[in-house]
Amino acid sequence: MSARKPLMAGNWKMFKTPAQTAEFFEKFLPLVSASTHADVLICPPFVDLAAAVSAAAGSNVAVGAQNCFWETKEGAFTGEVSAPMIKAAGCSAVIIGHSERRQFFGETDATVLKRTQAALASGLLPVVCVGERLEERESGKTEDVLRTQFTDGIAPLSADDFAKIVIAYEPVWAIGTGKVATPEMAADAHRCLRSLVEAKYGKDAAQAVRILYGGSVKPDNVKGLMAQVDIDGSLVGGASLDPVGFASIVNF
Ligand code: 13P
Repeated sequence: MSARKPLMAGNWKMFKTPAQTAEFFEKFLPLVSASTHADVLICPPFVDLAAAVSAAAGSNVAVGAQNCFWETKEGAFTGEVSAPMIKAAGCSAVIIGHSERRQFFGETDATVLKRTQAALASGLLPVVCVGERLEERESGKTEDVLRTQFTDGIAPLSADDFAKIVIAYEPVWAIGTGKVATPEMAADAHRCLRSLVEAKYGKDAAQAVRILYGGSVKPDNVKGLMAQVDIDGSLVGGASLDPVGFASIVNF
C-alpha cells in the first residue's frame, strides 16, 4: 500500500440542473459520510456549483469546477470563469485539460499549463488530464503522447507547484465508450507517467503525486483498477451521476 490517499472524483460534464444537484447530494452524502479512506470530489457544471457547495457544506465531500480561465484578474472575457471566482464560490479543485476540452474547444498543452498555473495561484487543486487517442494507442504511440503532454503541459511547473497538482490519466478511447482499460494497461500508463515525474522532479515527488485513472470506471470494475499500486483514485464520468452507484465506487 502506498501512502497516497486515494481521490475519488466525479466529473458530471454537461449534466444536471441545480435542483438535480441538490437531489444528488441528499442521497449521496449519507452513503459516503464514513468514507475516510479517500478524498471525495464532485465537479458539476458551473451553474450547479452554488447548489453543490451549499449541499456539501460541513461534509467530507469537496466541490470542484470542470475548467477555469487562465487570466486571474477579472476582465472582458465573455463566457469565461476565473479560478479566483471558482475559489470564491466555495470550490477547492478544478479539472484542467480534459480530453473533451482538447477535442472540442481547442485546448492545447500550452493552455493546459496556463490554466493550471491560474488554478494554483488561486489556491485550487488542479486535476490535470492527459491521455492518448485510439489511433495513437493502436500505432504504439501511447508513451510518446504522454511524454509530450507531460513535458509541455505539466513539466514547466515549478517543483513547489507540481507538488500541489493531481494528474488524471484518461485514455480517450475509454471515455464514455464502456471500453475500460484493463488494470494492467492503466497501470503501465501510470508507471510511465510516474517515471516522467521522477525524471523531472525526483523520486520523492514521483512517490507523492496522485495519479487518477478515468475512462468507463464503474462499480464493477473499480476494485481491479484500484488494486494497482500506481493508481491512486478515479475520475468518473457517467457513473458519477448516480448517487448510489458513485457511492459504491467511492467505497470500492
Ligand atoms: P466516463 O466515466 O463516462 O467514461 O468518463 C470518464 C471521464 O471523462 C471523466 O473525466
